[in-house]
Amino acid sequence: EWSIKNFIEQEVKNIQDKVGDKKVLCALSGGVDSSVVAALIHKAIGDQLTCIFVDHGLLRKNEADDVMKVFADDFHMNIIKVDAKDRFLSKLKGVDDPEKKRKIIGNEFIYVFDDEADKLKDMDYLAQGTLYTDVIESGTETAQTIKSHHNVGGLPEDMQFELIEPLNTLFKDEVRELGTQLGIPDHIVWRQPFPGPGLAIRVLGEVTDDKLEIVRESDAILREEIAAAGLDRDIWQYFTVLPNIKSVGVMGDARTYDYTIGIRAVTSIDGMTSDWARIPWDVLEKISTRIVNEVDHINRVVYDVTSKPPATIEWE
Ligand code: XMP
Repeated sequence: EWSIKNFIEQEVKNIQDKVGDKKVLCALSGGVDSSVVAALIHKAIGDQLTCIFVDHGLLRKNEADDVMKVFADDFHMNIIKVDAKDRFLSKLKGVDDPEKKRKIIGNEFIYVFDDEADKLKDMDYLAQGTLYTDVIESGTETAQTIKSHHNVGGLPEDMQFELIEPLNTLFKDEVRELGTQLGIPDHIVWRQPFPGPGLAIRVLGEVTDDKLEIVRESDAILREEIAAAGLDRDIWQYFTVLPNIKSVGVMGDARTYDYTIGIRAVTSIDGMTSDWARIPWDVLEKISTRIVNEVDHINRVVYDVTSKPPATIEWE
């Protein structure tokens, strides 16, 4: 009879049989799929697994530290964390087109991963968190070309590895349950979708350190307040964006001329269509007050009340 428990037992055995005494490499992003695949393979072969975690400097507040805490400290996995922020930011300098930003980040991710993988000479297998839906959708990929969804984690096809994809018969809800049974904490198992290019597509136009900081800090406040209001499982995705708008405000006796933060929060089933979330006004009020008070260079907060279509979920 099929159950997650039996699945774990069976897959652990399959992985052990397949890998033997060889070594497995995995690109860990901190997302649900790569986290679960890493935990499952780690359960099967322990130290024969090495994960590469590329921190492109475009993650949310505390995210990189949290990934390391959970998987390196608590799970005791071998993880190589690559601090590649400068590399990504210098490639993004002067670039304001959203699709160019995506392409640069996707390519740079592959170069960084390649460089690290090259240093580990004796890897035989590459583990990937491919789900059943990825398998069946890959045939129709050209249908959705409005935005190129370069998933950071997409790896070069000419790599010298044999693939291990133990999740490729599972749906997302099964992957979450598997993650929970493997001991992965709720905040990772129930993490909202986060795009591979990260905060780079939430700073509209050119990405700079200062602007990333504004998005990162305002996003952290939004997430805190959504969680405090108990809304984090009801809203599919929620984040802040920094459009290139300055407007006039007043602080004490002084006139200000500073940036606007946009809040995007949507309900959805699969991200293909969405509706804007009806966040209670008192929660929005608290978020707005905190962002203006706590984040430098913000004097105005707006709420995005557009569904998809016609808007997309992200602003870029
Ligand atoms: P849109 O903005 O197209 O987003 O309505 C739909 C879902 O896809 C995510 N998204 C991306 N994910 N790389 C990704 O891995 C990307 O370039 C990308 N662009 C959008 C978005 O966050 C939402 O969940």
